[in-house]
Amino acid sequence: MNRPLLPNKHLPAARRAGAPTTFQVKSFGCQMNVYDGERMAEMLTAQGMNAAEENAQADLVVLNTCHIREKAVDRVYSDIGRMRYEDGTRPMIAVAGCVAQAEGGEISRRAPTVDIVVGPQAYHHLPELIGKAVRGEAALDTDMPAASKFGALPARPRQARPTAFLTIQEGCDKFCTYCVVPYTRGAEISRPCSAILDEAKALIDGGVSEVTLLGQNVNAWTGEDERGRHMGFDDLIRALADLPDLSRIRYMTSHPNDMTDGLIRAHAEVPKLMPFLHLPVQAGSDRILKAMNRNHTVESYLTIIDKMRAVRPDIAVSGDFIVGFPGESESDFEATMTLLDQVRYSMAYSFKYSPRPGTPAADMSDQISPDVMDERLQRLQARINAHQVEFNSATVGKRVPILLERVGRYPGQLIGKTPWLQSVHVTAPHAALGDVIDVDIVSAGPNSLAGEIAGRKAA
Ligand code: SAH
Ligand code: SF4
Ligand code: F3S
Repeated sequence: MNRPLLPNKHLPAARRAGAPTTFQVKSFGCQMNVYDGERMAEMLTAQGMNAAEENAQADLVVLNTCHIREKAVDRVYSDIGRMRYEDGTRPMIAVAGCVAQAEGGEISRRAPTVDIVVGPQAYHHLPELIGKAVRGEAALDTDMPAASKFGALPARPRQARPTAFLTIQEGCDKFCTYCVVPYTRGAEISRPCSAILDEAKALIDGGVSEVTLLGQNVNAWTGEDERGRHMGFDDLIRALADLPDLSRIRYMTSHPNDMTDGLIRAHAEVPKLMPFLHLPVQAGSDRILKAMNRNHTVESYLTIIDKMRAVRPDIAVSGDFIVGFPGESESDFEATMTLLDQVRYSMAYSFKYSPRPGTPAADMSDQISPDVMDERLQRLQARINAHQVEFNSATVGKRVPILLERVGRYPGQLIGKTPWLQSVHVTAPHAALGDVIDVDIVSAGPNSLAGEIAGRKAA
């Protein structure tokens, strides 16, 4: 009965020898985390490394992590544990992103196969850290240097898709009581206008026709023009809209406290600015908003939506919600459901509250039980889905411009986005990615629409 153990399975995997020549970057977090992942990949490519094919065995794997909820963090450690190739070797493992920032050296203690730990403000040092790891030295960098990483990164190369992310603002000073971002990303900083315009131009030269401006609080951006005059986020949007070959501008995530009348006006006046507003509210009860330290009320939030709809009646509004924040009563939760009915979101993200170490809410009494959270989340998501279906169905029969972003599953099929960020499948064999074409929407599902090239059918 005593079968010999298979030694390979039980010995720690040995790291592949030598300097890595192929890499893979896996991003787990928000859009800004995805953007960072793209910039790391571009930097490694500029260093002469090659992106490994999908499912190929890369020499270096960068796990670009997210610390926002416990689940996201657990996933990283389980991924690290499973990182072993059939021949018993493993890649060089770098943990980047917000878990790296939050947990630092603790990561290598918990997962000794991790070779590199690099925070979101330090990833321009990745090439040096790889060199250290090759030499068997400790490779950890979670500094938040005063000089921004952006200047040290290579210029944006040609892009595979016509739509790209562009981080313009980082960090957060808001300190919502449940959230780790102020700790993992540091204080709010805005990139200079000239650097943003240069990056946008490089993206456009690289085939991009839509940019999504990113920031943890994107609408808190401030800067100066070339003559030193103050610029707000709406001025930046107007400056970008002047770039001739850019067709569409989007942004996320905006915070209610930084919504200015100028930004609302820009939605009325700048045709390239898409009619879509991601404006998280988190909860529909003022008592809970206060405990969350959101510094806005339900009423002040609704006023913003009303003002926006007054100037741009077709605007699609999306949001983020947390259910089960400590102390949330059934009537607090009902208030969130009422808010859903008032706003009628075109889409929304919703999460169960996850206590995060070091945040004030984690120590609050009255934590909500997992069962109650599950049940509330289901009710919330059912209502959000119903509104999403309603929003999508209202597009059927309309002629809308879509920006073609990627190829579909069937020959000649392309997938594009409406101004309101809905995906549309269309058969358009003669169109190219990056084109904006008019389509007639013929049917709608919860997550996508089907369209036909406008005017194709006899009326
Ligand atoms: N700066 C943005 C959001 C950043 S985090 C804003 O203020 O809206 C993205 C979303 O994750 C948040 O909007 C919130 O809904 C969710 N989130 C953040 N911390 C969380 C936690 N501890 N538990 C559950 N969801 C959380
Ligand atoms: Fe987190 Fe609040 Fe800052 Fe958003 S505003 S990143 S939720 S602390
Ligand atoms: Fe996650 Fe960091 Fe973004 S914690 S949500 S990757 S800012």
